[in-house]
Amino acid sequence: METPSYPPRLAAELLGITPKSLKASLEKDAYTPEDVWDLRAKLNLYPPSVGTRKQLFLNFKGGTGKTSLSTSYAWRLAEMGYGVLLVDLDSQGHATKCLGFEGEDFQHTLLNVLVKKAPITQAIQKSQLPNLEFIPSNLTMSTVDLALMPMAGREFKLKNALKEVEAHYDFIIFDAPPSFGLLNLNALMAADDLIVPVLADFLSFHGLKLLFETVQSLEEDLGHVLDHVFIVVNAFNATFKLAKEALEALKEHYPEYLMPQVVRQCTRFAQASSEGQPIFAFDRDSKGAGDVQVLIDEVIRRLQSSAKVAPQVEAKSA
Ligand SMILES: Nc1ncnc2c1ncn2[C@@H]1O[C@H](COP(=O)(O)OP(=O)(O)O)[C@@H](O)[C@H]1O
Ligand SMILES: [Mg+2]
Repeated sequence: METPSYPPRLAAELLGITPKSLKASLEKDAYTPEDVWDLRAKLNLYPPSVGTRKQLFLNFKGGTGKTSLSTSYAWRLAEMGYGVLLVDLDSQGHATKCLGFEGEDFQHTLLNVLVKKAPITQAIQKSQLPNLEFIPSNLTMSTVDLALMPMAGREFKLKNALKEVEAHYDFIIFDAPPSFGLLNLNALMAADDLIVPVLADFLSFHGLKLLFETVQSLEEDLGHVLDHVFIVVNAFNATFKLAKEALEALKEHYPEYLMPQVVRQCTRFAQASSEGQPIFAFDRDSKGAGDVQVLIDEVIRRLQSSAKVAPQVEAKSA
């Protein structure tokens, strides 16, 4: 994947300043992500702080948009000026691919960290954005669940491994596999918030019920309470009567968790991932990118209104 390049209007928008003040600080025809990041530091233009949030994109069902949404979400947060770590938990390595990398090219994944006790810093990789890092995944990760099975404290491995690095980031975003095993249990134990992409169909209801039962038993058996659960309807098509009915049913059953806006069906997601790009790099004007931005703004608004936070983040990665 090519390194993104921002025209002046866009670079100014990302920094929240006018094109004129951008020009006054650094005049260029196109700005690299490094230019934007350096200007952010120079002009002290950081977004509102939300502390360090660990957020897990999870649904035990496959194909609901966990990877499409988590990678776009992480990428965009980094463009907005947050320090972000994206953790690919799925042995299919789709999140790794969405960032333009091949999982098989990396020797270190979470398997080394959780099972072989390698330091987590060994598994962290740099992306095309200076303040977005990631932990890749590949097929070797498919053995994690079995390898964790006999270990003591097996549910807490990820939570503990992250302690060493989490203060460096504003957001740690996990892209989960669609399975119900020890790795996802580790991810749940490590997470502050859960983001659940669902499709507006009635099959998704059953999956949600199972998810909420799991979250409840986590509280009862392992004493871990999530701060927030956000349900996001993805790939919504309002021309389908059934989709509208399913959305109404979700509103009725999960009013406190359901995000007010849906992510609409958008073919650019599929095209972007086949090109190995998050949607903001592939087509930032698409409706999919617009909807993910609305999701991010709403999540940040809710995090801010539920926490006492400092007005700005400090530079956490460089
Ligand atoms: N909003 C959307 N509109 C249209 N297609 C989408 C949307 N979100 C995801 N997709 C497509 O649906 C498929 C499954 O998405 P993916 O993110 O891989 O799901 P998961 O990670 O939950 O298995 C992919 O082909 C992806 O491109
Ligand atoms: Mg996926």
